[in-house]
Amino acid sequence: MKITLIGYGKMGHEVESMALANKFEISSIIDRKGKNATHKELSKEAVEDADVIIDFSSPDNIIETITKVASYKKALVVGTTGWYDNIKIAREIIKANNSGMIYSPNFSIGMNIFFSIARSASFIIDKFPMYDPYIYEIHHNQKTDSPGGTAKNLGNILLSNIKRKKKLVFDRIDGRKIEPDEIHVGSIRAGFFPGTHVLGFDGISDNIELRHIARNRAGFAEGALLAAKWINDKKGFYSFEEVISSIIKG
Ligand SMILES: NC(=O)c1ccc[n+]([C@@H]2O[C@H](COP(=O)([O-])OP(=O)(O)OC[C@H]3O[C@@H](n4cnc5c(N)ncnc54)[C@H](OP(=O)(O)O)[C@@H]3O)[C@@H](O)[C@H]2O)c1
Repeated sequence: MKITLIGYGKMGHEVESMALANKFEISSIIDRKGKNATHKELSKEAVEDADVIIDFSSPDNIIETITKVASYKKALVVGTTGWYDNIKIAREIIKANNSGMIYSPNFSIGMNIFFSIARSASFIIDKFPMYDPYIYEIHHNQKTDSPGGTAKNLGNILLSNIKRKKKLVFDRIDGRKIEPDEIHVGSIRAGFFPGTHVLGFDGISDNIELRHIARNRAGFAEGALLAAKWINDKKGFYSFEEVISSIIKG
């Protein structure tokens, strides 16, 4: 299978190494700085040999990228984050062109399996009010958002299944107790952790914890390539979580 990479930064390089180690071909690399890339700009000619295009660039002109790639009738995997206010527009562009696209803020296969496990676990815990859910995440000291989007997503999964819980609390809880309908989501920033997420259910006699530990960026590249294979012969607009769910269902 032939891939075009848009964006040749940290993730572009990671996808390239993983692709070459797994018998994908890189037919072109587009990066606006152009260093070691085959093209500086996206064009029909730049992607004509590719089966699927994988974008890890920047959100600046991602809608333009989606519009162009869809008009070239090429399948697209978007790892770039920070454009989700325009998700409806992206869906419409893909539908109007009858093309295919997968997006995700987190292409780690393990994390998307973890989302699915969290969904099942929260459905069970809904039936057992003696267990109180909580979440915490640990990231390196360079990360500027807190909590990260992945922890928020885990929180929303819990809220959607545990009926007695109505609200996520991210702040420090000073001078008051946490309310019975709240779930506390904590963040730790230290050292070099690429990303650890813990989902816990605490009872009076015991504690259940589920933990996902990212080791490096390779997991994102692995997921983006799985997405590329999956979308190659399909049309439509999908999140990577939907792709993982469809693989789980068989
Ligand atoms: N979904 C996931 O699993 C996942 C995982 C990790 C990262 N990400 C996201 O992926 C994106 C890239 O991350 P990164 O760490 O690889 O960033 P990076 O190291 O800064 O690399 C991005 C590269 O893309 C280039 N670029 C930006 N816009 C472009 C465009 N329109 N056309 C061609 N090239 C363009 C940049 O050039 P300039 O330097 O000139 O801008 C840069 O060389 C970010 O949005 C990040 O949040 C997603």
